[in-house]
Amino acid sequence: MSNPAVYVPSEEFVSKAHVRGIQAYRDLYRRAEENPEEFWGEVAEREIHWFEKWSRVLEWNLPFAKWFAGAKTNVSFNCLDRHLATPRKNKVAILWEGEPGEQRFLTYQELHRLVVRFASALKSRGYKTGDRAIIYMPMIPDLPIAMLACSRLGIIHSVVFGGFSAEALKARVLDLGATLVITADGGFRRGREVKLKPAVDEAISECPSVRDVIVHRRTGGDTPMQAGRDHWWHQIDESATEDCPAVPLDSEHPLYVLYTSGTTGKPKGILHTTGGYLTEVTATMKWVFDLREEDTYWCSADIGWVTGHSYIVYGPLSAGATTVMYEGSPDYPQFDRWWRIIEEYRVNVFYTSPTAIRALIRQGDHWPNAHDLSSLRLLGSVGEPINPAAWEWYYRVVGKGRCPIVDTWWQTETGAIMISPLPGAIPLKPGSGTVPLPGISPDIVDLQGQPVGTDKEGYLIIRRPWPSMIRTIWGDPERFKEQYWSRVPGAYFTGDAARRDADGYYWVLGRVDDVMNVSGHRLSTMEVESALVRHPAVAEAAVVGKPHEITGQAVCCFVTLKKGDWSHDELGRELRQWVAHEIGSFARPEEIRFSDALPKTRSGKIMRRLLREIVTTHSVSGDVTTLEDLSVVTRLASQQEEE
Ligand code: WTA
Repeated sequence: MSNPAVYVPSEEFVSKAHVRGIQAYRDLYRRAEENPEEFWGEVAEREIHWFEKWSRVLEWNLPFAKWFAGAKTNVSFNCLDRHLATPRKNKVAILWEGEPGEQRFLTYQELHRLVVRFASALKSRGYKTGDRAIIYMPMIPDLPIAMLACSRLGIIHSVVFGGFSAEALKARVLDLGATLVITADGGFRRGREVKLKPAVDEAISECPSVRDVIVHRRTGGDTPMQAGRDHWWHQIDESATEDCPAVPLDSEHPLYVLYTSGTTGKPKGILHTTGGYLTEVTATMKWVFDLREEDTYWCSADIGWVTGHSYIVYGPLSAGATTVMYEGSPDYPQFDRWWRIIEEYRVNVFYTSPTAIRALIRQGDHWPNAHDLSSLRLLGSVGEPINPAAWEWYYRVVGKGRCPIVDTWWQTETGAIMISPLPGAIPLKPGSGTVPLPGISPDIVDLQGQPVGTDKEGYLIIRRPWPSMIRTIWGDPERFKEQYWSRVPGAYFTGDAARRDADGYYWVLGRVDDVMNVSGHRLSTMEVESALVRHPAVAEAAVVGKPHEITGQAVCCFVTLKKGDWSHDELGRELRQWVAHEIGSFARPEEIRFSDALPKTRSGKIMRRLLREIVTTHSVSGDVTTLEDLSVVTRLASQQEEE
């Protein structure tokens, strides 16, 4: 391939950066490689307040890791209490803007007060360390308040993205065995109220474990409350106290479970624990975002995804940053809402996704150009590979050629950023996440674990454990072993394909499994297929990701129908709506194609590979020798050409 452009950080940027110049990065990286435990021990000691120290940094019983086991700490304490004795006490911790335009500026002191009150209310209702809570809320400050209150008491939380349906919510409540649900009446999106409580009512009608539902009033819309079970947040707050100390928890105490799509229809509960997770999100906050005390930092993700957990809530607050939260949609009331926010709050560091960037490019340069974006000094990208054209636009039109872009590769499972430029140290190549962070040891290998060599495509793996790594899949350690630790012996299997160039830069190419990446959200083909076959008209379904200009991939479904007199147009619309209802609106298929048969192997397995090829290249060139009925493929491919 041709040599891509290289962007070297400006001298001005380098002179103020935490890690200055490539040699400083290399020294740090080498030290971590030579003695990883000593390295992480030092980072943990420097970044986190511990009530009691560990005796060993790492107990590694492949694939089960314990980091700083025996040591005692508390995430909520680190994100709040420890800042109160410093000049950060009255610094804004969360700077929030609601979609209708309200603002809240919560200082560390005030955020601490609200978290303590809510935690005391939970405690007085009998909730304690080890209990499980589901949090299903819009992007309002009360969402991180709920998370921090849970972590203060050691209640294991699972935040469910507000876009998930009642079905998806129910599956998560049941899998987690949650006794508490924290929600809101609704939130605002594109000028309309989006209700949340009805989905909770629908979901937990079949969840006997749930004792209490706490409802935050956000929209003020009509909300039926079930006596005895449902409580308004502001009412239980009346009896709250301001005395609820953070519980010293074992470093390996579970902090949260976050469900993500795997290769089967059942989402996986990714478990993160306390001390190691907090150490690494705090350290990466400083390394990657080059955080300065005076920064206003904004990550535009939703807290329902891992990016929001690590880089809106836990990382920034533990590092003592000012973190911006915006409730609504980027195009409301018009396409410059984000640029307005950057201008109004003088945002210095902005972290978003390639999908968002592409969607904004489409609206034209005049939107960002109408705003003063000169406060920005650093930009970030996450969730999917960023195509060089989008990178260039982000760099030129948003960053005005002044701001380095950190393209950060990581996963729900890794907890923290793994591969990313350190902005004052690493020259950038658009489209590459560049190099591993100190303490992270990736490689690109074949299925035998042999490195594939320069510029060759292979599987991205991580060779050594890292503090914020997934500990297990909630309730399913066998699946944890099988999914992540059995493909390449002794190494963590990421599920991504990648190559490494002659400079040691990583280029992540995308998933190698049946997981789609739609707008940076992971979605399994099986999950959509099982939703489709639950519809009475559908006999069989096969789902593949189709390249999409804005969202990276779009959901494309091949469907065969049961006997009946169906109108394809009408049914197509209905099935798209059906999937949105079963999983969530972000999973709504772009396309439904009806077919009289699906391509299968002689043993009856649907050959998704061929379907992927049809939607990507509009033809089939791969091996079809195991196919049962070749004519199916020819028909599907020609159907495409006719359109
Ligand atoms: C993809 C999001 C290329 C990748 C933090 C990974 C990326 C999956 C990048 C994880 C990036 C994430 N470049 N691909 N910078 N960041 N990915 O769990 O396929 O929602 O495995 O975590 O997104 O998605 P997840």
